[in-house]
Amino acid sequence: MPSPTYRLGVPADAYEIAVMSRYLIEVGLRGWSWPPDRVAKAIRARDTNVLVAEVKPHLVGFAIMEFGDTASHLSLFAVKPSHQRCGIGRQMIAWLEEAALVAGITTINLELRVNNFAARTFYRVLGYKEASYLPGYYRGIETAVKMTRDIRRTLPDPIREKPKK
Ligand SMILES: CC(C)(COP(=O)(O)OP(=O)(O)OC[C@H]1O[C@@H](n2cnc3c(N)ncnc32)[C@H](O)[C@@H]1OP(=O)(O)O)[C@@H](O)C(=O)NCCC(=O)NCCS
Repeated sequence: MPSPTYRLGVPADAYEIAVMSRYLIEVGLRGWSWPPDRVAKAIRARDTNVLVAEVKPHLVGFAIMEFGDTASHLSLFAVKPSHQRCGIGRQMIAWLEEAALVAGITTINLELRVNNFAARTFYRVLGYKEASYLPGYYRGIETAVKMTRDIRRTLPDPIREKPKK
């Protein structure tokens, strides 16, 4: 498989991202909560990173992360089934965490459907902890699990750690 390239989304990506969101994330839920115009708005927003993974001519993954003052929210995230288990998800999360860290973010939060055991495992493997259950979070019917990760890195203590000679 050719390696994907990772880049920020542009308005022309909005339709493909919205369709992936509908079929990979919102599958089985009533309605379409991220139609193309909402995705396009996120792409234009200054406080939001829309990251895409591309194997030309198609997108194979995308993520939408909204930045607050000290916490970021991963609103949407998916990799196409044809490209799953190839490390693309892991690389996209690493990219987003690095961007968040540089922006002064300490915590990343996200919610996912309680029965999405594959994604719960994925996030756990990447260091995310299950914080709470949110009954009715999806369309007033389905429960979400909230997961969170403190992305601050432990820096060496300059007093206690002597420089190596
Ligand atoms: C969750 C998702 C984004 C993971 O993306 P991915 O590119 O397949 O993940 P990676 O290949 O980087 O996996 C990293 C590690 O996570 C774990 N993991 C990933 N998918 C898994 C699965 N289906 N079952 C168990 N563990 C899994 C594995 O430990 C994996 O490492 P390994 O392949 O070396 O064993 C992808 O499965 C997906 O898009 N699912 C549908 C949409 C979704 O659920 N989005 C998240 C909630 S909004």
